[in-house]
Amino acid sequence: MVKKKMTMNKPETASDLLKTLRESLLELQRWGYKGFDCSSRSLEMLKRWSQPYEKPLRPKTDINLENIKADLEGCKRCRLSRGRTQLVFGQGNSKARIVFVGEGPGYEEDQSGLPFAGPAGKLLDRIIAAMKLNRNQVYICNIVKCRLANNRQPQDEESETCLPFLKRQLAIIKPEVICTLGACATKVLLNTKNPLGRLRGRFHDYNGIQIMPTYHPAYLLQYPENKRATWEDIKKIMALLGLPL
Ligand code: URA
Repeated sequence: MVKKKMTMNKPETASDLLKTLRESLLELQRWGYKGFDCSSRSLEMLKRWSQPYEKPLRPKTDINLENIKADLEGCKRCRLSRGRTQLVFGQGNSKARIVFVGEGPGYEEDQSGLPFAGPAGKLLDRIIAAMKLNRNQVYICNIVKCRLANNRQPQDEESETCLPFLKRQLAIIKPEVICTLGACATKVLLNTKNPLGRLRGRFHDYNGIQIMPTYHPAYLLQYPENKRATWEDIKKIMALLGLPL
């Protein structure tokens, strides 16, 4: 057998050493040497041992709404950041069975830091009270977290940029029902272009969570004749949650 010269660089870490050892054993195995433990089992073991140590990912239980909020601190991911006084992240119970999702903060919300703080919010409070619940028992948030000037709707790009954060909020809260308020929230969460009129009044699946689209309270203030239909939608949610009428 022709003797071959094995070149070896000086290993710097234990991991390097194990890697080098494995490579050497492999080489010996190829040359047909016996008397060393260059069995496949040992080589596989050395391979595993020489993997660099990786810090374990943050355990899932550590992730909470505060972490997500912290990830949004100083957010400049879209142009809406330029018009905000503060982020309006969301309000309510992190274990809520129902989450209400609106479009985005207006002036009052931008000033207070709380969602649905203006006249539309007062109506939403009445809807929640009619369910015999209050703001501490539900969770309220929006598609976008920064002020929409002049009550305009979020543009696609703005919704898409902010949506991952809402999805993370929903993944933490894991509600049984999401009530989308208005066309914007409904279309964004259901990823559809269908009009609200065709979507509201029945449940839709969102990752195993039931979505009930209904009218936006600001729209109801303008067109109160739709309050009755909204109440019918809310009653369906109450039935699903087993809440007394
Ligand atoms: N206030 C909010 O927080 N969201 C809306 O969609 C409207 C008003």
